[in-house]
Amino acid sequence: MRIIAISGSPRMDGTTNAIIQKLMENAAAKGHFCEFYILNRFELHGCQACRYCRTEGDRCGIDDKISQILDKIYDADMLIVGSPVYMGDVTGQLKIFMDRLYSMKDSSGKPRLSDKKGILVFSQGASGKEYYKDMFSRVKKTFDGYNIKIQNMIVNDSADISQDSELQSEIESVCADL
Ligand SMILES: Cc1cc2nc3c(=O)[nH]c(=O)nc-3n(C[C@H](O)[C@H](O)[C@H](O)COP(=O)(O)O)c2cc1C
Repeated sequence: MRIIAISGSPRMDGTTNAIIQKLMENAAAKGHFCEFYILNRFELHGCQACRYCRTEGDRCGIDDKISQILDKIYDADMLIVGSPVYMGDVTGQLKIFMDRLYSMKDSSGKPRLSDKKGILVFSQGASGKEYYKDMFSRVKKTFDGYNIKIQNMIVNDSADISQDSELQSEIESVCADL
């Protein structure tokens, strides 16, 4: 499989990136082709609502790193997307990326992507993994709508993930499905 991971966390050594890294290491060990993009490393441009993607072209009209990542998703089998919870939502970095998914539907609103598998990773400061479940399911719905079918969702509420045995077994069980 070709797996692309995208993180909206600005903390390179944070928990979101650590969980994604673990998933990617497991996937790579199984022979899957993996690429990991941390959005905060790039100059991010929000959707301009120019509608180039829905009228003139078949891709985003902005020429930047996000468009390059979006192009790669067409050839991927699986997308792993992660974000810390900021103000009850995904980070601004991931929201910019999600807005740019708009270019992946055609003029009739039909997804341009063939079905992809998807995994979501969320990390939150508040304890209680149910606390943001409405937001998590909203994000899932967005990706599902673009044919990125979310099959697993990992929610972390521990500052030190190595001490969270429940989370570790959840990660292992997701890895087993890769
Ligand atoms: C700007 C900002 C806003 C945050 N808002 C929330 C929030 O609304 N709810 C919450 O549970 N945690 C919130 N947090 C805490 C982070 O979600 C938490 O520390 C998370 O584990 C960070 O992920 P990371 O380790 O990948 O950076 C916020 C942190 C920051 C910096």
